[in-house]
Amino acid sequence: MKQPSFPPPAAICVPCRLAAIGAVVLAMAGGFAYVAGWLTPQRLTTHRIVNAFEADNGQHPGFRRNHAKGVCVTGYFDSNGNAAALSSAGVFELGQTPVIGRFAIPGGNPSAPDTSVPIRSLALMFTQHDGEQWRTGMNSVPVFAVRTPEQFYRQLVAAKPDPATGKPDPAALKAFYAANPETQPFQAWLKGHPPSSSFANGSYYSVNAFRFVDAKGEVRAVRWAMVPETPFAPINDAQKAAKNFLDADLDQRLQSGPLRWHLIVTVAAPGDPTDDATQSWPADRQQIDAGTLVIDHDASQDDGPCRDVNFDPTVLPAGIQTSDDPLLAARSAAYSLSYNRRTREEALNPNLHRPQPHGDRS
Ligand code: HEM
Repeated sequence: MKQPSFPPPAAICVPCRLAAIGAVVLAMAGGFAYVAGWLTPQRLTTHRIVNAFEADNGQHPGFRRNHAKGVCVTGYFDSNGNAAALSSAGVFELGQTPVIGRFAIPGGNPSAPDTSVPIRSLALMFTQHDGEQWRTGMNSVPVFAVRTPEQFYRQLVAAKPDPATGKPDPAALKAFYAANPETQPFQAWLKGHPPSSSFANGSYYSVNAFRFVDAKGEVRAVRWAMVPETPFAPINDAQKAAKNFLDADLDQRLQSGPLRWHLIVTVAAPGDPTDDATQSWPADRQQIDAGTLVIDHDASQDDGPCRDVNFDPTVLPAGIQTSDDPLLAARSAAYSLSYNRRTREEALNPNLHRPQPHGDRS
C-alpha cells in the first residue's frame, strides 16, 4: 500500500525562534514586574498596604497584620428559616450550621492593651452541610472610616508612628481627616458610643454591602449584623486600668454557659449605596432576624481552630455574592497576603514566641 507523502516542514530561522522565545520571556517578566508594582511605584498594591500595617505596628512574626490580638471561638448558627426566602444559601435553611470564629481588636500589635482601640471585631466561618463556606469579618462600628482602598492606605501612612515619640503624629492624622470628610460618620459614631465592656455584649456589623440571591435568582442588596442577647454595658474604670480584660472576661462568661447573638439582615431599598461603607442606610429598612449564633467554647489563637483561618469576606456560598463595594477586593487580597506571610513564618519557626500564652480552655 502506498504511503501518503507530505511536503518537508518549512524551515523557521533559528534567530527568529530565539527572538520569539525571548519576547515571551520578556512579556512574562514585565507582567510579574507590573503586578509587583516595580514599574509603577506610585500605584497602590496589596504589598504596599500590608507593608504599611507592618510599618505602623512593627514586625510580629506569625500574627495577623491587622486585628492581631484575638481569641478563637466555636459554636453553631441555628437558622430559623426566615432568611431562606432571600437567599438560597444552605446556612439559611432551618437547622444548625457549625461555626469557627474569632474575637479580636483592630491593630497589628498582638500585645497591645485592649484599651488601645475603641473597636472590637468578630470573624466567623460557617461550614454548610454541602461543604460550602460563608466567611465574614465584622466590626463593632456599623460604618467604616474610609470608602476606598487608596484612602485606607493613606490613613495607614498618616497613622505611622513618629520615631521621636513612638506615636502617630496628631497633625498628620488631623490633616488626613480634614482632607477626607467621608470619615466623619465613623468619627461621630465613635464619639456617641463608648466601647463595650466585653466581647459578649457587642454588636458586630458586616459594614460592607453584599447581595443575597434567592432560589428564583432575584437579587437584593443586604448588610448584616450580629446583635447580642447579652445587654450592652460600656467599658468601666477598672477595665480601663486593667488594660487586658476582654479575653479573660469571655472565658469566664463561657464557663457559665453559651453566648448568643441574633443575625439581623438589613435589606437595602433601591438607591441605597452599596459601594460606600462610610454611609449607613436609613433606619426604616426591612430587617429580618435570620437565627441565632451560639458560641459555646473559646481557645487560644496560638493553637486554636481559628489560627490558620483566613476570614476573607469574599468567600461566600451560592446564594450570597459580593457587592460593588471597592473595599471587598482589597480586603480579600490583603487578608491573603497577611495569611501567606503569617503561616509561612509559623512554618519556618514552629516555636515562635507568643506574648500571651494560654492553653486551650475549651
Ligand atoms: C481596604 C480595607 C481593608 C484592609 C486592607 C484590611 C486589612 C486587614 C488585614 C491585613 C487583616 C488580617 C487578615 C489575616 O491575617 O487573616 C484584617 C483583619 C480583619 N479585618 Fe480588615 N481590612 C480592611 C477593611 C476592613 C473592613 C471594612 C472591615 C469591617 C468589617 C474589616 C474587618 C476586619 C476583621 C474583623 C479582621 C479580623 C479577622 C480575623 O479575626 O481573622 N476590615 N484586615
